[in-house]
Amino acid sequence: MKPFFVTATGTDVGKTYVTAGIIRAARQANRPAGAIKPILSGYSQATAASSDAAILLDAMGKRVTLKSIAAIAPWRYFAPLSPDMAAAREGRSLHLPDVLTFCHAAIQSAPGLILVEGVGGAMVPLNATQTVRDWIFALNIPVLLVAGSYLGTISHSLATAAALSAQNIPIAAIVISESETSPVPLEETAAAIANFLPGIPTHLIPRHLNNISFANLAQFLEAF
Ligand SMILES: Nc1ncnc2c1ncn2[C@@H]1O[C@H](COP(=O)(O)OP(=O)(O)OP(=O)(O)O)[C@@H](O)[C@H]1O
Ligand SMILES: [Mg+2]
Repeated sequence: MKPFFVTATGTDVGKTYVTAGIIRAARQANRPAGAIKPILSGYSQATAASSDAAILLDAMGKRVTLKSIAAIAPWRYFAPLSPDMAAAREGRSLHLPDVLTFCHAAIQSAPGLILVEGVGGAMVPLNATQTVRDWIFALNIPVLLVAGSYLGTISHSLATAAALSAQNIPIAAIVISESETSPVPLEETAAAIANFLPGIPTHLIPRHLNNISFANLAQFLEAF
């Protein structure tokens, strides 16, 4: 087992895209890799096939069924909102210890790289008292912080890194997943972030021809 928690500077930044890419790259090199997405909001049976869980199962080479989705994503909510709000709309409330038990079991039984995709950004509330950061802290595994390359990402990245560092959560790497539009080349954004976070490696995932980038990132994680 080689676990990492995949969090981000916000929602829709590229956690699932990056997680799936890493899994595919490792598997193409005949090395085992998998992922779980314990908490999924904005989920319905009608859109199950395009859910994060489905994308991750596909990368793992597993059949996408309601059962296989439920196996990697046990907490599913209909509203596309933060888990505290989404759960409340169903008269439910997320109990973090249950999520931790599920994650521990998945990590223990993983034969190789195992990625835990969070939900939204690192400071998203899970319930009335806890955020994703508390989940990461309790799991005590290193983070892969996914950021975009959009205008504003530098501040979002540094703020997220500061929030994680305040709890002594180790950041294995920052992954800059190219946004639809970027004001400057990816390398310039990476350099600006690295300038303020010396010691944290940055990895770039361009939008096209990124197989080698994913292969390098998978190798980096396996050797971490
Ligand atoms: N480097 C990239 N190249 C091409 N497409 C990308 C890249 N990064 C992100 N995307 C696309 O951007 C969209 C949002 O990415 P993704 O679903 O991975 O975000 P997320 O952080 O997992 O969001 P959520 O918080 O909903 O889980 C997706 O359509 C994804 O394919
Ligand atoms: Mg996702």
